[in-house]
Amino acid sequence: MKRYYITTPIYYVNSAPHIGTALTTIVADACARFHKRRGRAVYFLTGTDENAPKVHRVAQERGVPTQQFVDEMAEVFRNTWRQLHIEYDVFIRTTEERHKRVVAEVFRRLRDQGDIYKGSYQGWYCIACETFFASSKVGDSRTCPDCGKPLEWRDEPCYYFRLSAYESRLREHIVAHPQFIQPEVRRNETLGFINEGLQDVAVSRSGADWGVPVPDDPESGVVYVWFDALLNYLTATGWLERGDAYRDTWPPELQLMGKDILPRFHATIWPAMLMALGLPLPERLYGHGWWIVNKQKMSKSLGNVYAPLDVAQALASASGCALPYAVDAFRYYMLREMPTDADAEFSLEGFEARYNGDLANDLGNLLHRTLSMMHRYFGGRVPDGARLDAALADLFAQQAARTTEAYEAVDFPQGLREAWQIISAVNRYYDEQAPWTLMKQNNAERAGQVLYAGLIAARALCVLVEPVMPRVAREIACQLNIGEIPNWNEATATNAFPAGHTLQEPKPIFPRLQPKSGADTSARASNSDKTVQTTPNTTMQDLITIDEFKRLQIRIATVKAAEPVPKSTKLLKLTLDVGGEERTIVAGIAEDYTPEQIVGKQIPVLVNLQPALIRGIVSEGMMLAADVDGKAVLLHPDREVPSGSTVR
Ligand code: MSP
Repeated sequence: MKRYYITTPIYYVNSAPHIGTALTTIVADACARFHKRRGRAVYFLTGTDENAPKVHRVAQERGVPTQQFVDEMAEVFRNTWRQLHIEYDVFIRTTEERHKRVVAEVFRRLRDQGDIYKGSYQGWYCIACETFFASSKVGDSRTCPDCGKPLEWRDEPCYYFRLSAYESRLREHIVAHPQFIQPEVRRNETLGFINEGLQDVAVSRSGADWGVPVPDDPESGVVYVWFDALLNYLTATGWLERGDAYRDTWPPELQLMGKDILPRFHATIWPAMLMALGLPLPERLYGHGWWIVNKQKMSKSLGNVYAPLDVAQALASASGCALPYAVDAFRYYMLREMPTDADAEFSLEGFEARYNGDLANDLGNLLHRTLSMMHRYFGGRVPDGARLDAALADLFAQQAARTTEAYEAVDFPQGLREAWQIISAVNRYYDEQAPWTLMKQNNAERAGQVLYAGLIAARALCVLVEPVMPRVAREIACQLNIGEIPNWNEATATNAFPAGHTLQEPKPIFPRLQPKSGADTSARASNSDKTVQTTPNTTMQDLITIDEFKRLQIRIATVKAAEPVPKSTKLLKLTLDVGGEERTIVAGIAEDYTPEQIVGKQIPVLVNLQPALIRGIVSEGMMLAADVDGKAVLLHPDREVPSGSTVR
């Protein structure tokens, strides 16, 4: 049976994954899970692009043998994906021998049939984008038209791929297959790019010693990294090794990538290579937009690059949410706010708002309040005669169908909006029907029916969020005590809970993040059976990185002398010995300690604080003490330590 083949790009391993690279993989994982749950045999491929010059360059800069470097980085990627709950079927690396054989074979075949020919190249190369640019495309600044970085001049003999020969076939294919390139904006971009006229592309680089050597002509250097990398999608199917069996997988149903690598590479060079090989083309290429941060592209120099696990970990620490659910919350944010056509702004504030609003208030609360009331009113058992009102049953089925349609179109923001309509409908229904009032009126039968809607809704959500939040879905299934996550097409079955079915005690999955100050704008109006969840006292934005912490220099100082600051009841002037250096600080402890009580003591002091003039005295640091109801309590090392010792 043909497997539903989904690919991500393979990642350059010059740096570790960030939220941008994670986006494509999370989208692919959600698609893979969605199609699996709908009963398809899925084949999900990701991996690493290791033959790129920039990868080699970074390894050299670090003084590490390149093979060792790529081995280590491939592990970093694998670990990150595992921790983000990514379940791929194959992880391919372009340094694998089987891949190098495919690259060499394709190069040979295309050269033999005249689609690759020898010439010479004069033009510009962008190492960051690993892209050649004709002189006509480069302005006076000689910077990359795509990323703006300086270009390198290349003047070398090289092989070309006859891309120009495929221009009209490519255009015809795109026009005849509206599904081929999505979303629409990328299709138009690609047609615009092709209509400018396709030039043959250089597919070898002389003088390079990292990559796949040009077959039968090693003097010509190595195969161009994009020609090499695109073929990973073919290698992974077993083409060349498995006879016709590779057709179990080929062609891909869905190739996912960011917008930067769609028009020029995946929608032109790649299908042209496949046309030259006589192979069927992928059915769908989907290019999402980019995450930007503070309206700018992420870059190390701007210091605005987020590592996905740091973001999830920060949420876990700030909210008390268990890490696997915090990771799922991160996945939810990535997909709920996913840039589809346009770029989208990534922000911690946005993440917090989605977490508190959609996850803690909506999804978490639906489950929690439903189970709480079930336990309070019915001892945790589904009462006799509980059934779903027909109008709600229709609405749930309709929203599930809409979610399905949107996920099919890789439109996760829309799919999640549709799924959340089920939650809003139940909240409205609870408010209108007020099961708590029904109970007071001794109408337990009707109250049971109302709460039954909450159970059916929670079960439906369990199914519909699984592609996005797999661990949360498992936890919902566990609290509902339904064992396995139900099949996709039974998501809204109305008879899912027989009378007497026992439910687990509710456990909050998403403890609320405490708002920083004032009103929490993300919170929705509360209603009468609002669940109280644990509240931590830090928000994510209060958290600092380890690097920020390392900027604080805290040392142990010995207090040599202390005297009151004239005309102040609160301040003492302390003379300190910090590892042989004498320092003066002014400390607000006069109401809690006399000078005699502090002289001779060892205390921690922040020594790299900007000096401040306090009551005419230059204070060169700040002592650290515990604050107990506004009173200072001194901190001392466990035993006497050399003065100047570092605190870390
Ligand atoms: N190695 C090539 C792909 C070869 S595929 C045959 C490559 N690698 S990459 O590591 O630079 O990028 C991998 C993916 O991450 C691409 O889909 C790219 O669009 C995506 N992203 C990188 N930064 C991004 C954002 N800031 N936002 C969203 N996605 C972005 O290109």
